[in-house]
Amino acid sequence: MIIAVDGPTASGKGTIATALAEHFGLPHLDTGLLYRAVGRQVFLDGGNADDGGDALAATGFPDSLLGDPHLRDEETGGLASRVSVHPTVRQALYERQRSFATQPGGAVLDGRDIGTVIAPEAEAKLFITASVQARAHRRFLEMRDRGVPVTLAEIEDDLRRRDERDRNRAVAPLVPAADAMVIDTSALGRDEAIAAAIEAVTHALS
Ligand code: DC
Repeated sequence: MIIAVDGPTASGKGTIATALAEHFGLPHLDTGLLYRAVGRQVFLDGGNADDGGDALAATGFPDSLLGDPHLRDEETGGLASRVSVHPTVRQALYERQRSFATQPGGAVLDGRDIGTVIAPEAEAKLFITASVQARAHRRFLEMRDRGVPVTLAEIEDDLRRRDERDRNRAVAPLVPAADAMVIDTSALGRDEAIAAAIEAVTHALS
């Protein structure tokens, strides 16, 4: 059983995917982390994220990089969005995601193209979305708690830029699969969003 959870940055998809994995007893892969590791490796190499060659070379990042706390930084998120535009980078990360998805017993994967490219045969596909304002507000509170000095307007600008790039890239753009169930979390609290997702997946599997 494969559960695909796609959606834009800060939509709540990571929280939802983690909760689904726990509820259904499945392993979980946050595929954004792979793109973030590539972005971080480009930075460490002193390369250019917009250069296909530099970005492809960075897909050879060591596994230890997946534990790097800098992967969660906004800067790394921006670099991840830039390296993810290159088809060769997406191809290089495909096999790793595909074998995780098809492991015996099933899996939960979250990202941008799980239901459309990585596991189109997934039994349950969710597309998690929320307004830019709601997502920016959540991200703002998160960063304020971490003591990062940013304004709401800066975060909103950054999210819009990232959405624009993720939605308009030529390969595997961020779009809901035709058979995805869309959950808008703008007006939902964390527990409500998780409950809605569990109900949607349970329904899809029945
Ligand atoms: O979900 P996230 O913010 O960690 O993802 C960071 C970037 O990685 C995102 O802006 C686009 C890219 N990404 C992607 O292209 N495909 C995925 N399956 C996951 C992430």
